[in-house]
Amino acid sequence: MGTLVVTNIGELTTNDPSLGDESRWGRLFHAGLVVDEDEVLWVGASDEAPDADDALDAEGRAVIPGFVDSHTHLVFAGERSDEFEARMAGVHYDGGGITRTVQATRAASSEDLLSGARTRVLELLLGGVTTMEIKSGYELTVDGEGRELDVARHFSDEVTWLGAHIVPPEFKNDRAGYLHLVTTSMLEACAPKAKWADVFCDRGAFSVDEARTVLEAGRAAGLAPRLHANQLAHSGAIELAVELDCASVDHCTYLEDSDIDLLSASATVATLLPGAEFCTRSPYPSARRLLDAGATVALATDCNPGSSYVTSMAFVIALAVREMAMSVDEALWSATRGGALALRRDDIGHLSLGARCDFAVLDAPRAAHLAYRPGGNIVAKTHRSTREGATDRI
Ligand code: NIG
Ligand code: FE
Repeated sequence: MGTLVVTNIGELTTNDPSLGDESRWGRLFHAGLVVDEDEVLWVGASDEAPDADDALDAEGRAVIPGFVDSHTHLVFAGERSDEFEARMAGVHYDGGGITRTVQATRAASSEDLLSGARTRVLELLLGGVTTMEIKSGYELTVDGEGRELDVARHFSDEVTWLGAHIVPPEFKNDRAGYLHLVTTSMLEACAPKAKWADVFCDRGAFSVDEARTVLEAGRAAGLAPRLHANQLAHSGAIELAVELDCASVDHCTYLEDSDIDLLSASATVATLLPGAEFCTRSPYPSARRLLDAGATVALATDCNPGSSYVTSMAFVIALAVREMAMSVDEALWSATRGGALALRRDDIGHLSLGARCDFAVLDAPRAAHLAYRPGGNIVAKTHRSTREGATDRI
């Protein structure tokens, strides 16, 4: 493919404030877009669009930047629908079921892990996701975590090592032994395969001090830090995330005012995962307090078999709007540009000239339909840059 011109875009969201209506969402109506294999080349009025090798008539539909799903656990085996049913009947989620997925994942063949992950990657892609972060964390052995990262790397460059997800059952009486393994041989095996290090820093998982130890060791091995925090309880994890300049601190279900002040004064993105609150029947995070204080908010699926078996960013946006009082525009920004910032990426999450040509055509005249028509297949077409052989990696 050479160049492509998209014409008759009813509503184009670029997330570039210098384009279109000069709002934060950089919106144009009756717009056109020209891309090559990699980049956005031109944005403007549809009837002024230059010729290109190929043409696509959007027929008045909306175009948005591709979703950036900055938090997923796509590499796993098995399922835990029985836990979901128990929660809907009143049982509280405490992360205890993670060990069941660890057992199922350890027992699975590498082929099965790859094909299970592929199914979920395809669901994300068909739903408009053009960049996805993928974590390990369901084997918790040196070889197993390496194997999960290999599967993740097959699909994405945004790969996260989560060896400190929980203490696995065989180390139940030896936390220190597990932390030693994590920060020595496991890290050594995993660092070359990942970009990020993450820790589940929460009640029943790892403490703030343990998380600091793992993330500092990860950083020394070349892995940039991010953190799961405050999903189950308040803790000092937000402070730690800001102190370590984590790209993102994820969940943020329980926040003190002081946490919000810290986040709004930092470059650490608060990534909210309302699919997890939906699937665990928990209170939703205070997106409004974060946004009103000036913090950067991202939205992601957290796709995993325990707390959020969700592969639709449109559904996440609908939850954010309905349950967390975000406007549709805020939610769309958080699911695109916010996700990119949570991965410290400037080239995605927007459609400025020179940005990656990652976009989605909606089966709707306005992006608001993402929240207005929940539960349907709202994404008509996902278009992705082929710069890193993205389309060959499925
Ligand atoms: O992000 N909180 C920790 N990890 C996952 C849940 C994992 C599971 O329940 O299997 C999460 O919600
Ligand atoms: Fe998670």
